[in-house]
Amino acid sequence: MEEGYTHNYLMEEGYKKPFSQGNGGIAGFPVRSTPALQKSHRTARVGLASRKINAIMSSSTTEKLLSVKAVVTVKQSAGGLFSELGISGGLDKITDLVGKRLLLELVSAELDPKTGQEKRAIKGYAHKKSESAEEVTYECDFEVREEFGEVGAIFVENEHHKEIYLKDIILDGFVCGPLNITCDSWVHSKFDNPQKRVFFANKCYLPEETPSGLRRLRQEELAILRGNGQGERKSFERVYDYNVYNDLGNPDSGADKKRPVLGGKELPYPRRCQTGRPRSKTDPQSESRSGSIYVPRDEQFSTIKNLTFSAKTVSSVVHALLPSLETAIVDADLGFPYFTAIDELFNEGINLPPLQKQGFLKDVFPRLVKTITDTAQDVLRFETPETMDRDRFFWFSDEEFARQTLAGINPYAIQLVTEWPLKSKLDSRIYGSPESVITTEIIEREIKGFMTVEEAIKQKKLFMLDYHDLFLPYVNKVRQLKGTTLYGSRTLFFLTPDETLKPLAIELTRPPTDYGNPQWKHVFTPTCNSTGMWLWRLAKAHVLAHDSGYHQLVSHWLRTHCATEPYIIAANRQLSAMHPIYKLLRPHFRYTMAINALARGYLINGDGVIESSFSPGKYSMELSAVAYDQQWQFDLQGLPNDLISRGLAVEDPTAPHGLRLAIEDYPFANDGLLLWDAIKEWVTDYVSYYYPDPSRIALDKELQSWWTEIRTVGHGDKKDSPGWPDLKTPSDLIDIITTMVWVASGHHAAVNFGQYTYAGYFPNRPTIARTKMPVEDPTEEELKIFSNKPEVTLLTCFPSQIQATKVMAVLDVLSNHSPDEEYLGQVPAPAWKEDPAIKAAFERFSGRLKELEGIIDARNTDQRFKNRSGAGIVPYELLKPFSEPGVTGKGVPYSISI
Ligand SMILES: [Fe+2]
Repeated sequence: MEEGYTHNYLMEEGYKKPFSQGNGGIAGFPVRSTPALQKSHRTARVGLASRKINAIMSSSTTEKLLSVKAVVTVKQSAGGLFSELGISGGLDKITDLVGKRLLLELVSAELDPKTGQEKRAIKGYAHKKSESAEEVTYECDFEVREEFGEVGAIFVENEHHKEIYLKDIILDGFVCGPLNITCDSWVHSKFDNPQKRVFFANKCYLPEETPSGLRRLRQEELAILRGNGQGERKSFERVYDYNVYNDLGNPDSGADKKRPVLGGKELPYPRRCQTGRPRSKTDPQSESRSGSIYVPRDEQFSTIKNLTFSAKTVSSVVHALLPSLETAIVDADLGFPYFTAIDELFNEGINLPPLQKQGFLKDVFPRLVKTITDTAQDVLRFETPETMDRDRFFWFSDEEFARQTLAGINPYAIQLVTEWPLKSKLDSRIYGSPESVITTEIIEREIKGFMTVEEAIKQKKLFMLDYHDLFLPYVNKVRQLKGTTLYGSRTLFFLTPDETLKPLAIELTRPPTDYGNPQWKHVFTPTCNSTGMWLWRLAKAHVLAHDSGYHQLVSHWLRTHCATEPYIIAANRQLSAMHPIYKLLRPHFRYTMAINALARGYLINGDGVIESSFSPGKYSMELSAVAYDQQWQFDLQGLPNDLISRGLAVEDPTAPHGLRLAIEDYPFANDGLLLWDAIKEWVTDYVSYYYPDPSRIALDKELQSWWTEIRTVGHGDKKDSPGWPDLKTPSDLIDIITTMVWVASGHHAAVNFGQYTYAGYFPNRPTIARTKMPVEDPTEEELKIFSNKPEVTLLTCFPSQIQATKVMAVLDVLSNHSPDEEYLGQVPAPAWKEDPAIKAAFERFSGRLKELEGIIDARNTDQRFKNRSGAGIVPYELLKPFSEPGVTGKGVPYSISI
């Protein structure tokens, strides 16, 4: 026992006299007036009846001791599941915990008023008391002098050889009731790191209001989390630091595996978590690759989530399922010979080669891998997506193509046409004529004299998917890659009187080539003759590939997963765990760093699923950096500003949500604005409670450091760009937090959980268009195939068998809700329950989200809303807050975790 520590009666060494604390003062937890909780060691009155606290307290000869019991809950290993799946690791088994103990040290919230020094901590050992399948509890009895005052924090030292997952500690014995300390954290073994862990009580404090006894600890804990930036991070560490994306390539395995660094002047990008891995041998700019990528320990997936979905499933897809697909489909370039061959993926499935671990894939992917009983053969058989289930030919129609720009999985790209004629902003000396070939005549012909283009623009009837200037600079580079092609594209839509969009024209552009070919561009329209109709279908396939790429790289990855990581790193480095804004944001940051690390390892890395299956190939991630540079602004990430920036809404104080939509039946915007308002109301209640006086925002050093670090470090490449709000008033803070919460919840859910529904049948959203249009500099052979059997031209343009099935398997996993998914507003974070005002605000929020379920259901059955209801149409449920586990096409989790 360390010199000077107050004793715990369970400890082996004899009882020592507690040090004098003066009158101490008990700020928040006065003694409960029961005899069992009082003890005078001089009079040895343990257990004697006495409720006369005042008498005891007034006696100068009686030192009053409170009996306080600490109950520590440690989460138990999911051993059964581990062994079933043949995956090793996890928590200590129960037997490993027997006889081991946890050292606890209670920290007083206040300094000693006499000395002005910190009071000495009260130390005790917690021993295992009980166990269940899920949890092990440890207990420790403390004798606490009343003068010790409120317990503000607790140190924990884990004497086991393995880390433990500490759920919470409850200290019971105070008049005000138990003191809860929510931990939800991995505590390293003292043999890995002798530094003790500190956990603060659940009560929130702004920095300047920190109780005096906790100020030093508050700062020291943040310093630990910031780390010193040195060395390779170990798996048990909790250091949050920044790095550029310099680990996507693998230059040591070949020059063609090198990838540019994302982040910096050349290719601005948000920062990712630093891992400290050594540099690669052949490229000092790159970090070496590793099988496991460090994220701070508490950012890792929970055991349940890890095993059933996310991490293990994605990595199992990549490590087991995709290689077996490559064995099953020998020719990597082989396309689908007929449309019926695509259907077979949902009917017969693909025979998988025998695996070493029989049944392994079947356990991990019960939705995907089935065993045919009579042959014992494992097959990969995809579930029929709901879109196709409702309407076998859904993907074929122009109406559905247009509808999905408003109610599909990429509702973030459609924009109002405000200028005419359309014109490129790129350098015409490099990219050729900037004038669009979509002329006034073409548009007026397509809208059949309904109105002039001028009137259509004035009345906000013309809309566009614009993938022209973003993609055009990459066209020649991408065309040098094997098995892919690219165009710049524009797709025009007309808003009909029933609020649906009608596609009018697609323009595909190729810039002048390096070989001296001039610029090529062509407009395709939904004509009635056979050749024109097939060319239109092919042009749509190209646009859909552009939209798939933009969806995955920008709307999904960049704007949600990638942009959020710096907010998380900065929050952990600058906001104490006892900061109210940390407690507000924490549930919205759960597992995001883990899924992002996984994505860097398997999906967005060089030769990963994205590169191998999307049109831009190895330039995919670079394109997301270009989009970040040209398009991303913090203030446009909130839904209202996003809609306004795309011309889809204007401010109107008389309209619902203060916005008038350009397309009234815009399911994503209509449901999204309800959700946005509910989030904003909750955030407003929360922020207003903790910052009743606006000056507190400016005085809050942690908050200011957090915001400064986000702007100047995490998103530092854009620190001088427009769109960063000030953080001076509670209203600024409400906007900032609402934006972050929306991105992590509503935005991500809208672009993530419908992926299998809408892209599972890939002709609806091919990720790649492999071949150019048959009318662009055609060979005789190409024309002949197109003329004789245009279906072959389309199927050759579509993804190869291996590309399609890989993407389908990954999208199936990414669209899945884990059984332990945490939905927005469903269960409050423990800290939100501590204060009645916050608890009540959360309940209002939760109630509002439940109402929203009903509103969305009603909208989906209202036949007036043709973009979300009608024959064969999948209702728009992506922003319905709650869901059951699985691929449901609904449910808005708190955070980006898949
Ligand atoms: Fe996602």
